[in-house]
Amino acid sequence: MTLTVLLTGGAGYIGSHTFVALRAAGYDAVILDDFSNARQDVPDRLEVITGAPVRVHRGDVRDAGLLARIFAEHRIGAVVHFAALKAAGESVRRPLDYIDVNVTGLVALLKAMRAAGCGRLVFSSSATVYGTPEVLPVPETAPRGYANPYGFTKLACEQILEQVAAADPGLAVAVLRYFNPVGAHASALIGEDPQDFPNNLVPYIAEVALGRRPALNVFGGDWPTRDGTGVRDYIHVEDLARGHVLSLTRLLETGEGHTVNLGTGRGYSVLEMLAAYSRAVGRELPHVIAPRRPGDVAEVVADPSRAAALLGFRAEKGVDEMCASSWAFVSRRANR
Ligand code: NAD
Ligand code: UD1
Repeated sequence: MTLTVLLTGGAGYIGSHTFVALRAAGYDAVILDDFSNARQDVPDRLEVITGAPVRVHRGDVRDAGLLARIFAEHRIGAVVHFAALKAAGESVRRPLDYIDVNVTGLVALLKAMRAAGCGRLVFSSSATVYGTPEVLPVPETAPRGYANPYGFTKLACEQILEQVAAADPGLAVAVLRYFNPVGAHASALIGEDPQDFPNNLVPYIAEVALGRRPALNVFGGDWPTRDGTGVRDYIHVEDLARGHVLSLTRLLETGEGHTVNLGTGRGYSVLEMLAAYSRAVGRELPHVIAPRRPGDVAEVVADPSRAAALLGFRAEKGVDEMCASSWAFVSRRANR
């Protein structure tokens, strides 16, 4: 029988791409999303891409009654938990909201899963749990820390999952630490679509390319990196989505949890990403060197070897594909 997966936050950026990948791999999927950071038309677009009806429950992951109804209505065999607030800068101003949605949301979900007898969970964690990494590329065994309330919530969730899984032999958890997801689905129908100010690099570059911002502010030109600008491990969101399928499949086959980095193992600087996006757009995009952003670090790159060994996961798409697919999505969205 086809296994049904509940995707909390499944209308969001990574969740929507993972929905497509799970359906392509033969899983059934149900979305729970409050659409606080997703466009209303995402389910329609998912129907176009997958060619099948998309089942969506609109509501809050902290709503115990709603969760109970979803588990009663569908035979949920596993959950992928994306729903969260994710803007690190905003979390400094609104820590309680981040703790409430991210931590209380996870606790509500775990209670509902236990009540329903569902014991397979894939959790969206982040490279943010490495704080300022001392060793590069960063292995999963690196010490954990945090630099802002958002990072605190992701670390707290990982620790809550460790405690709960240790006490419950029926619960197996995959913790996926994403590095920097960018790009969009090949159809250009879904992609990263910030509802307000773009905080992350590629969404900001896209705004410059659309002419909505005059230039990219490069946060620091004097970092100890090859060109003085920050280096990150950018991973195509379709590769990331495929990583979820491999992780879930292993979780179901072995009944054992795992914690893996999902990155490429290659770092690109801000100026290198700007150059890649400029190639995608077909003209040079302007930048200015601005002061460093508080809480930033020079370089974060994944050690992807555990994901390769455990899941057979290797990122395939490079930065040119990431930027070209982002631009295809963003320019199409803007022209509608
Ligand atoms: P996103 O904002 O696009 O997706 C999150 C989805 O959750 C949105 O559709 C939003 O409407 C929904 N949501 C938020 N609060 C909710 C609530 N209380 N109840 C129900 N739904 C709710 O973000 P994303 O980039 O797709 O991130 C998905 C997950 O991956 C998050 O947990 C995030 O912390 C994590 N992550 C993201 C990145 C990144 O750079 N995008 C990096 C590392 C980890
Ligand atoms: C940021 C968050 C991190 C979160 C991650 C993914 C901070 C301090 N960290 O990480 O918690 O997990 O996003 O959502 O916010 N840059 C510019 N100009 C810009 C935007 C970014 O130069 O307008 C630079 C940054 O200094 C960095 C690189 O681009 O060197 C990538 O930045 P970003 O996309 O925000 O990701 P992270 O810093 O990795």
